[in-house]
Amino acid sequence: MSLQGEIDKRRTFGIISHPDAGKTTLTEKLLLFGGAIKTAGAVKSNKIDRHATSDFMEIEKQRGISVATSVMGFNYKDRKINLLDTPGHQDFAEDTYRTLTAVDSVVLVVDCVKGVEIQTEKLMEVCRMRNTPVMVFINKLDREGQDPYDLLDEIEAKLDIKVRPLSWPISMGKTFKGVYSLYEKKLKLFTASKQTLDTDSDVLIEDINDPRLEELIGDNYAETLREDVELVDGAYPEFDLETYRSGEVAPVFFGSAVNNFGVQELLDCFIDIAPNPIKRETEVRIVEPTESKFSGFVFKIHANMDPKHRNRIAFVRVCAGKFKRGDTYYHSRLDKKFRFSNATAFMAQSKEIIDEAFPGDIVGLYDTGNLKIGDTLSEGEKGMYKGIPSFSPEIFREVINTDAMKTKQLDKGLTQLMDEGVAQLFTYEMGSRKVVGTVGALQFEVIQHRLLHEYGASCRFAPMNLFKACWFSSDDKKKLEEFIKSKYRHVAQDKDGKMVFMAESRAWLQMVQDNFPDISFHFTSEF
Ligand code: G4P
Repeated sequence: MSLQGEIDKRRTFGIISHPDAGKTTLTEKLLLFGGAIKTAGAVKSNKIDRHATSDFMEIEKQRGISVATSVMGFNYKDRKINLLDTPGHQDFAEDTYRTLTAVDSVVLVVDCVKGVEIQTEKLMEVCRMRNTPVMVFINKLDREGQDPYDLLDEIEAKLDIKVRPLSWPISMGKTFKGVYSLYEKKLKLFTASKQTLDTDSDVLIEDINDPRLEELIGDNYAETLREDVELVDGAYPEFDLETYRSGEVAPVFFGSAVNNFGVQELLDCFIDIAPNPIKRETEVRIVEPTESKFSGFVFKIHANMDPKHRNRIAFVRVCAGKFKRGDTYYHSRLDKKFRFSNATAFMAQSKEIIDEAFPGDIVGLYDTGNLKIGDTLSEGEKGMYKGIPSFSPEIFREVINTDAMKTKQLDKGLTQLMDEGVAQLFTYEMGSRKVVGTVGALQFEVIQHRLLHEYGASCRFAPMNLFKACWFSSDDKKKLEEFIKSKYRHVAQDKDGKMVFMAESRAWLQMVQDNFPDISFHFTSEF
């Protein structure tokens, strides 16, 4: 098949949701439809039990499970679908943000009872930064949820995106009857079934005035559905592919993942409208997926769980051309060539050696420490792919070495863990104090545990009173130097050597901003 043909076949996406909205369940049902798994219950939740956050076995389990389910490739109809998993636990949000840089679109799951929750708002912010196309699946219609119109209004208001329902629920909870697909003009009647895939119970109702509606759902529900369809078509502009693909409008589906209900409608529409691998930007130019030369970037690193084998798997998103196993590729950051003879692809639950991969695919490369998140591989061209920003962490703690004999091991361990993106390290200009910043408290336990068990280094973390790490810039070089000189006690370097201002409080940051109007402060490393 031609490169263009391979690209047209591919859909690479991620599912995001607030924990418990039904991401794992939906993933499993999608894999069932794709024939990638045979029975329900095969996909393990990658959630850490929220009641056992300090249980290291749980953390290890999480790491083990997440490599197996990090990327799930499956075929559906004539498409090759790559589903990239994102961690459910919010302490690993940074990992989710990075995974979102490797997808071409996103499915957002919302629980119809709880509506839009805080974690969803944060994830959507990341999607909006990159104009990632979003489809919404409103889940758990078998429960008494909020009014569908209210839910849609809430999504628009809280997530700052326009919506366009492409299916509509007929009642919900105990009296849930089914959904009408506005996209395919089909009525699907609800049957609660957790194990089977009901693929042919839908009835084509091209004209909503068809009298069969009364026979199928009764007079009252038929009348309400007609009113709703009229209202929806009147209130929302007609679905337009371009506004979806530019991330302005999110098509919405309703269903119940646990009952396999509404999932196929979502999937069928998804393969129709979701974008295939899109062009991407490097520091120097825009790269089209159809270019003959391979290039891609690392968005995730996974350490081997066995401490005797320190190799890691780097997840590379293929952006252009064809990746061939055994070929030598150019590592832009190190300005060096490397050969990767053991590339793996991820098919549903398993890993398998592959010979070639195409744009949209994710390849796993075994690495002994040469690759880190954000690295670009190519056939020789210089320039890194853009779009793996670091966000300012929320919690900061100073690293205190508790075993002076193991300083080297500590430094190495910290560097490698930071390459994996477990947390961010800031080194103060003054005194070389090292500060680790994370999104959640759980990472500190993970880091301490892994430093000890994998590197034989021990440390403790001293709390620090910091509000944010702000990257800063200015067009005026002199003003920038003045600022650094005046605030040198509070200036640190991030992992890439970029200068960061460590702000102690919101009020203080505001004051500094007022006093240095020529300096721009940023909460992400890419600006
Ligand atoms: P997550 O990955 O987004 O965190 O959510 P997950 O799929 O694990 O689902 C969270 C809970 O919601 C699970 O129940 C799951 O069974 C349930 N659920 C998912 N889809 C639906 C649905 O359509 N309707 C209803 N009523 N429930 C749904 P649990 O009790 O936490 O786990 P389990 O014992 O059922 O597996």
